[in-house]
Parts: sequence; C-alpha cells; structure tokens
Amino acid sequence: MSQSSTQPNALQHVAVIMDGNGRWAKERGLPRLEGHKAGAESVRAVCQSCIEKNIPYLTLYAFSSENWKRPRHEIDGLMSLLERFLKTKMPDFKRQGIRLHAIGRLDRLPPKTRKALEDAIEKTKDNNNLNLILSLSYGSREEIVDATRDIAMEVAAGKISIQDVDNELFSQHLYTADFPDPDLLIRTSGELRLSNFLLWQLSYAEIYVTKVFWPDFRQEEFNRAVDEFASRNRRFGKV
Ligand code: IPE
Ligand code: IPE
Ligand code: MG
Repeated sequence: MSQSSTQPNALQHVAVIMDGNGRWAKERGLPRLEGHKAGAESVRAVCQSCIEKNIPYLTLYAFSSENWKRPRHEIDGLMSLLERFLKTKMPDFKRQGIRLHAIGRLDRLPPKTRKALEDAIEKTKDNNNLNLILSLSYGSREEIVDATRDIAMEVAAGKISIQDVDNELFSQHLYTADFPDPDLLIRTSGELRLSNFLLWQLSYAEIYVTKVFWPDFRQEEFNRAVDEFASRNRRFGKV
C-alpha cells in the first residue's frame, strides 16, 4: 500500500488566486473597487483559518504583472487599498503573529505603496505563526526569466558551473527560495487557469477551484477546500 493512502496529507502551504472581486461587485450594482474592498475581509478570514489549522505558509495572488494593463483608476484604487490594508492591519498582524513577505517586481509599485509594504515586512519580521506572502506585480514567467539571468551571470562569473544547475539550484533562484512549494492551490470564481501564477512551484500542488467569488470566500469555504485536499490521493508520479 502506498504511504499516501495511510498518512494524512501534510498541508504546509496554501496558495490562492483571489479572483472574482469585479463580478461580485457587478452583481450588486457596485463599482469594481467595492469588490476589492470586500475581498480584503476574506484575506483576514483566510489568514485566521491558516493560523487555526497550523498551516505555516499562505501565498496570495494580489496583483499580477498583467494587471498593470487595467484602467488607471482601478490600478490606483488597488494600490491605495493595499496601502490602507497594510497600515490598518498592523495590530492584527502583531496579535495573530503574521509575518509578511512579498514576491514580484516590487520596483514597479508606486513609491508610497512600496514604502508601506517594506515597513510592514520590517515590522512583522519577528512574527512566526503564519508567513503571509503577497504576490504583487508578480508574473511567474518574469520570475523564471529573472532566475535564469541570475544563474547565467553566476556561470559567466565562474561562481558555479553549468553542471551545478539542477532543480534545487533553480528553485533557490526564484523569488520563493525561502518557502516550500504550495501543497494546495485554490482559485475562486470558477476560472480554470493559472494566469501566470507560480508555474514552477505548483508542479505538484492539488488544485481546488470553486465558483464562489473571492469576497464571499470566508472560513467555511476555506474549510471545504482543506477537507477536499485531505481526501486527495497525492501520488507524485508513484503508484
Ligand atoms: C481579482 O478580482 C483581484 C485582482 C485581479 C486584483 P478581479 O478584479 O479579477 O475580478 P473579476 O475577475 O473581474 O471578477
Ligand atoms: C489573476 O486574476 C490575478 C490575481 C488574482 C491577482 P485575473 O483576473 O487577473 O486573471 P485572468 O485575467 O482572469 O486570467
Ligand atoms: Mg479576474
């Protein structure tokens, strides 16, 4: 009998494509930004669930490289919302022991947003209940290109040889070098695609898609996803 059928699936890292804020707002006749605001409350709920379930890593897709193509007012609104979220949530982060991290091309963020982010990362660095990783201005292809450039430079400088380049070394050059690969990927709002999210890291993640829009995805929905994950038979290519 395979080990996976006798041992419960370990759940160390959950990654979420938080989708459907715009449609949630539209259904209610509200501006899209109201959907993004309501989505911030789901972030709080899912962090709390991870803490209660002793899941140490949570990565949230908050803004993709492609999202820069959205209308200016929506981008500005999202950036202000993020700043406000970071500033107002600080007492919660402290109380809940949440350590913040960010992955993506952060240099593209407006200076004020970037400053708020860096402050939050610095202020939470000693917390250790939950690592909350925000993917911001993030694109997996860009990340892979960045890693390839870094590795090529190290080879060119004679620091490593071509033979040293393997899966492990490659992983160590991704933005996610400090984190384990996600075990579970959740996508809300029903779309069946990855949208340039963690292409390398999700190789063996279990995928859970729900039609529920992100602002309606709270603890009960999260529990459903975790229960479903627990029932999966992870084989990793074995029999
Ligand atoms: C996800 O919701 C949040 C971001 C991408 C920033 P959307 O804004 O994509 O909402 P829909 O998909 O248009 O409903
Ligand atoms: C993916 O959602 C990005 C985030 C959740 C931040 P999108 O709404 O941007 O993805 P597509 O356009 O449906 O693929
Ligand atoms: Mg969307």
